[in-house]
Amino acid sequence: MPEPIHILGIETSCDDTAAAVLRDGDTGPEILSNRVLSQSDLHAAFGGVVPEIAARAHAERVDIVVEAALEEAGVPLDRIDAIAVTAGPGLIGGVLAGVMTAKGIGFAARKPVIAVNHLAGHALTPRLTHGLGFPYLMLLVSGGHCQFLRVGGPDDFTRLGGTIDDAPGEAFDKTARLLGLGQPGGPAVEACAASGDPARFDLPRPLLDRPGLEMSFSGLKTAILRQRDRIVADRGGLTETDRADLAAGFQAAMTDVLAAKSARALETERGLTGFAVAGGVAANRSIRTALEAVVTDAGLPFVAPPLALCTDNGAMIAHAGLIAHKAGHRDGLAFPARPRWPLDTDAAPILGGGKKGAKA
Ligand code: KG4
Ligand code: ZN
Repeated sequence: MPEPIHILGIETSCDDTAAAVLRDGDTGPEILSNRVLSQSDLHAAFGGVVPEIAARAHAERVDIVVEAALEEAGVPLDRIDAIAVTAGPGLIGGVLAGVMTAKGIGFAARKPVIAVNHLAGHALTPRLTHGLGFPYLMLLVSGGHCQFLRVGGPDDFTRLGGTIDDAPGEAFDKTARLLGLGQPGGPAVEACAASGDPARFDLPRPLLDRPGLEMSFSGLKTAILRQRDRIVADRGGLTETDRADLAAGFQAAMTDVLAAKSARALETERGLTGFAVAGGVAANRSIRTALEAVVTDAGLPFVAPPLALCTDNGAMIAHAGLIAHKAGHRDGLAFPARPRWPLDTDAAPILGGGKKGAKA
């Protein structure tokens, strides 16, 4: 029986410092540890991720998180076969902290280092969690990403469309700020929306009238701002009902856009094994339920990995690294940290940002 392969995965591209150990044995990959140290408390007062604070926090904590992941896995460093690290896209200071750590450990312990694309980590997760076969459709919806990908193989990604401005999680976070709710905004808006009337305000469904899979969410956020300001000007402030109705209206508009564009993607793409989601926004029950209905209508399985593997984590980076390692891929110690790194180099560049800044 061949010895199992152990991969250490490191992720520092946004506001989570993460490390994981994956073992690939007879029964396929198994997550032995998956540690995430969130920085949201450090950024909360600023209403968004501050790149300098993120970079410093990653640099201070990444070795601690790596040690904790190795210890929890019960795998000493000399049993690790390769170190996989997010080399982009993301906030460059954070990516650098992870890359330098991986190179340092790799050099000192004489282990190969593999540069992993963060988006590939997300996009390949349905294989780790559900063994989903290629090709499948992937919707990445988080605070930093929003795109449809056709995943045809470990190196075969076609970007079918995505946001041209804000990422959905970013729009949730901004809406929460506009309504005076806490951060992260997604769960706060979802909770507030539960008692609201989604039909009270007439809110736009941007770009639904246009063909294709591009999306836009900044106009929706502006519409919420206008409605809020109108109520404040008329009546001096927002009641709990106003807040709930605005949150519900926003969530319904977001849900409608994501569901309609997903239905469109499923109409045009052929031969798919399933439709998978990733990213923190996939935790939203209204969005998840609507997407599941659309996918089931199309006669395909709907794959939603557990939330800890949907959001940024080291296990997805270790998994993408494992695939590359088994294919004989080695990166040496000279690869760069990349703020932008499109998965699909044939696709037109994305104009918009996400909380990681303009990317991919
Ligand atoms: O994937 P993630 O943890 O990090 C990246 O952005 O890469 O996603 C975080 C985003 C935040 O913007 C957060 O507000 C949003 O996901 N989110 C949600 C929910 N839970 C988290 N958005 C809507 N509904 C939720 N329940
Ligand atoms: Zn991510």
